[in-house]
Amino acid sequence: MELQDRLAARVSDIEPFHVMEVQTAARALEAKGRSVIHMEIGEPDFPTPQPVLDAARRAIADGGIYYTSALGLPALREAIARHYAEHYHVDVAPERVIVTAGSSAALLLVMGLVVDRDERILLADPGYPCNRHFVRVLEGLPLGIPVGPETRYQLSAELIERHWSPGTRGALIATPSNPTGTTVPRDEMRRIAATVERLGGRLIVDEIYLGLTYGETPRSVLEFAGDAFVISSFSKYFNMTGWRLGWIVAPQRHVRDLEKLAQNLYISPATPSQRAALACFEPATAAIVEERRAAFEARRDFLVPALRELGFGVPVMPTGGFFVYADCSRFTDDTEQFCRDVLEGAGVAFTPGIDFGVHRARQHVRLAYTIDQRKLEEGVARLRDFLFRA
Ligand SMILES: Cc1ncc(COP(=O)(O)O)c(C=O)c1O
Repeated sequence: MELQDRLAARVSDIEPFHVMEVQTAARALEAKGRSVIHMEIGEPDFPTPQPVLDAARRAIADGGIYYTSALGLPALREAIARHYAEHYHVDVAPERVIVTAGSSAALLLVMGLVVDRDERILLADPGYPCNRHFVRVLEGLPLGIPVGPETRYQLSAELIERHWSPGTRGALIATPSNPTGTTVPRDEMRRIAATVERLGGRLIVDEIYLGLTYGETPRSVLEFAGDAFVISSFSKYFNMTGWRLGWIVAPQRHVRDLEKLAQNLYISPATPSQRAALACFEPATAAIVEERRAAFEARRDFLVPALRELGFGVPVMPTGGFFVYADCSRFTDDTEQFCRDVLEGAGVAFTPGIDFGVHRARQHVRLAYTIDQRKLEEGVARLRDFLFRA
């Protein structure tokens, strides 16, 4: 290899999303005239709510496009703090809220703040793949801990304690989780917060799907762990994936250093997006996103029993987000091939488990219910025909 083409070692440790290959194959089938039911896509099918679009148009027409503070617009930080009081009954000082370029930037900032070279961060396997890559990019060591139905596919205080070592810096938990849609129960989260504190580490909790909670009261870890870093986003609950806007609620003493990192890494979150997002907290938007939350819940209530009936294993009912992580070992032990076969044979696209870790990954697939009920029913019917074709 030419000397100038030698790349940093970290690049080879970052894996691409295998789901992108499924998506490319799906698009190729569609180009040939085949119909595909897309259950691989990890973003809401709903458009951004109209009041948000209107606010964006006004912001751009007014010329409100200059950099903001790296911490975000003060009015937006205040609105997010009020949202915590109204939705989750926790007091958060607006000064602790840092608006970021998606929760992706939030995760990078927090990892940049706490992780030093060769320090470990504990993560659930299966889990959201970017998390281990953020740690790796920062020269830390992501440690995926195998989790299964016995802990609702989540880390527990006991698992954290068992895998903690002198080089461990903290634990990152996404609740509700991508890919499993399962949450950490409140009492367990309390134990986790106490354990991480006792061990002298940092707790980072990704609550990006908290607004999309079904059948139980959504609880923020901020209720009892004021020292945790909480990550969230406008992407999922507010249907604003492409606007690239998220936030961190950080302990007050770390805000200045996070600001410094944000200033240097991307200067400020997108200004038109921030001004648009102010409209998320108006009653008209709240009504729209709550209606959509109910639609997601109805889809889940259809899809999970339907998958179980087909022979997929879904031992824990997902209670948030829009994903089902299904055990497909009855049909295959090669999830990638299975995804290819189902796409080709049934015209249904979903994500191979290997995108989310290594633990029993080849026996799992992730299905997203980010399509309407009619398509969902069609997808299940096609799966039934494909799997039980004589
Ligand atoms: C668990 C989790 N965290 C973070 C993100 C990043 O989202 P965004 O950067 O759009 O806020 C995603 C996106 O799918 C996710 O599933």
